[in-house]
Amino acid sequence: MSIVESMQGFVEENLSLLTPLEQIWQPTDYLPDLTAEDWSPRLGRFRETAERLPDDLLVILVGNMITEEALPNYTLSLGRIAKDPTGTTDTPWARWLRGWTAEENRHGDLLNAYLRLTGRVDMRSVELTIHHLIRNGFSTGGEGDDYAGLIYASFQERATRLSHGNLAKLAADRGEENLARICRKIAADETRHEVFYTKVVGELFERDPETTILAYRGMLRRLVAMPGSRMSDGRDQNLFDHYAAVAQRTGVYTTRDYASIIRHLNAAWGLETRSFAGKAAKAADYLCGQPERYERLADEIESRIAEQPTVPFSWIHDRAM
Ligand SMILES: [Fe+2]
Ligand SMILES: [Fe+2]
Repeated sequence: MSIVESMQGFVEENLSLLTPLEQIWQPTDYLPDLTAEDWSPRLGRFRETAERLPDDLLVILVGNMITEEALPNYTLSLGRIAKDPTGTTDTPWARWLRGWTAEENRHGDLLNAYLRLTGRVDMRSVELTIHHLIRNGFSTGGEGDDYAGLIYASFQERATRLSHGNLAKLAADRGEENLARICRKIAADETRHEVFYTKVVGELFERDPETTILAYRGMLRRLVAMPGSRMSDGRDQNLFDHYAAVAQRTGVYTTRDYASIIRHLNAAWGLETRSFAGKAAKAADYLCGQPERYERLADEIESRIAEQPTVPFSWIHDRAM
């Protein structure tokens, strides 16, 4: 039995990081009620406040939504870890994965419905991008390695939490409180999920520190590819990079965030305080130097991106961003 498989008891203890169904929100709670008698003025008010979003925030929102909508990719990837041969297995790992998938599934649903109802984006082009992304698939880069998958999940849950949280602030600044509330809700889910994966990896550091730290270093050496990095609208060859540049320019997700995530994970996993030997000690040195390295690079990356020409986005009817 692998170490990850042997952690069923640990996973069981942390299943409370999923929210009970009686308490959890659903997308409908944050959208105008189309069954109400006065649905039309309600929808009108909803669309009016959505007009306050500038194009750059729309592009970010679409990119974040597409990343969430490619959930089948991530479930397939984590399915290897959960090892659920029947699809209804009652082991803690399998229960976590299904519960996590069900919670994540609301994110794409809610953002998709929000965007459709605003009438502000080219939904067909957005849908085409989701279709491409799911067909193109997704890899953490650490093929077949359960450790890398779990480290990647810790990283990404925090990255999405920051990105949704930052977008919430920018939307609120523009007076679009509906979207701000939605993004805050999603960010709160990502936070619970982040806690789970970070605790699991923390336990891997207890049980198998050397393999874990080498997997972590391997992931950072490859640069942590974002989950949506294989997105395409069938036209723009560098769609993801263009979206990432807008995220950087608006401050929704930047190199400084990347550095802060590594800094946080290093501290959460006790990299500076644990004692490692040999190869693992070298890996710890490398990892502890990464936050500063990216902080130093941040200015350079920022100015490079600021100089990039704007490009048309099919998502917003070819307006350039
Ligand atoms: Fe999510
Ligand atoms: Fe997530």
